[in-house]
Amino acid sequence: MESLTYANLRTGLVANPCTWLVTGVAGFIGSNLLEALLRLNQRVIGLDNFSTGHRRNLLEVQALVSPAQWENFQFIEGDIRDLEHCRSAMRFRPEEREGTPGANGYPVDFVLHQAALGSVPRSLEDPIATHSVNISGFLNMLVAARDAGVRAFVYAASSSTYGDHPGLPKVEDRIGKPLSPYAVTKYANELYADVFRRCYSLRAIGLRYFNVFGPRQDPNGAYAAVIPRWISALLRRETVYINGDGETSRDFCYVANAVQANLLAALSCGGDAESQIYNVAVGDRTTLSTLFQLLRDGLRPYGIPADTEPAYRAFRAGDVRHSQADIGKAQRLLGYQPTHRIGDGLAEAMHWYVQLHRTQDA
Ligand SMILES: NC(=O)c1ccc[n+]([C@@H]2O[C@H](COP(=O)([O-])OP(=O)(O)OC[C@H]3O[C@@H](n4cnc5c(N)ncnc54)[C@H](O)[C@@H]3O)[C@@H](O)[C@H]2O)c1
Repeated sequence: MESLTYANLRTGLVANPCTWLVTGVAGFIGSNLLEALLRLNQRVIGLDNFSTGHRRNLLEVQALVSPAQWENFQFIEGDIRDLEHCRSAMRFRPEEREGTPGANGYPVDFVLHQAALGSVPRSLEDPIATHSVNISGFLNMLVAARDAGVRAFVYAASSSTYGDHPGLPKVEDRIGKPLSPYAVTKYANELYADVFRRCYSLRAIGLRYFNVFGPRQDPNGAYAAVIPRWISALLRRETVYINGDGETSRDFCYVANAVQANLLAALSCGGDAESQIYNVAVGDRTTLSTLFQLLRDGLRPYGIPADTEPAYRAFRAGDVRHSQADIGKAQRLLGYQPTHRIGDGLAEAMHWYVQLHRTQDA
């Protein structure tokens, strides 16, 4: 099967706009998907309950697209734990905005399901909350998508599914035992999606994200991810803490790469590319100590002293020691070609966090 190129895909979408449902649209990855789709003149329904996402992310996207493109966005404040909310998001109803609800509109072609409670530590603190959103909510979304007859259901899976498997780089069909409740939920998603493919012919594709980062990833809160947390700490002249000896490593993936993988997965058709799991990363491996140096050096133009050092503390429960993806499958079957390695992505992300820091200080 010949895979699409990303450039061809975008040209095709602009010529023939589709209808997309992005769950978790007010979150980090969801809002980046929204921005990319609206820029391609797609119709987008967004579903979110603002549990970890923010209205300001939607407002930022609104400011980045044209008024006509923003008109193509319909937001539903709702919870994926409620099946009726999931069902109501399966049709774009522009007329409802004008106050004349009707049964017409556009059925959803593609679902990009991002809504979930992320974070390994959060799941260790409250496994029931993580379970109910990430498994029961996920199942609701599968049922609603099946009943709506969508063309594809692409969902956020996770590299945490590799668990305690020691192999590097990580290859899709070799996984270990999960190391956290969060990892259990993400693996359960894959099992459910596969069963819906077998039993109901739902085209479901899981994207195992590896440490995605970029603009609009939340730097605040107890469960912030490492890159926004550290950039924010450096800009505030606070201590950066490294959990462990600094040799823990990750395949950090800029969000533009994740957006590309979602669109390619949705539009891929036929043969082996259908209904599978794909690693979404770059294929590089960066230790936490190196990440710290990259951030410190990248932020020097903003007055961060060259001799700033991190503080080391205990390893964190549930963390995988090393992570690096083999992205060959996504390259072969989806035509995925990451555009940003870690340095390119950090430059864009740091610029965004510096602007945020300035507006917050203003
Ligand atoms: N960021 C990463 O590095 C990474 C890595 C692996 C997997 N993932 C997965 O990618 C997806 C998106 O992650 P993110 O980093 O953008 O996180 P995020 O917290 O920024 O976004 C998640 C969004 O889902 C929404 N949400 C949560 N519970 C909901 C519910 N019950 N109903 C409706 N909306 C709900 C939140 O309000 C938020 O806007 C998640 O499924 C996450 O598990 C992320």
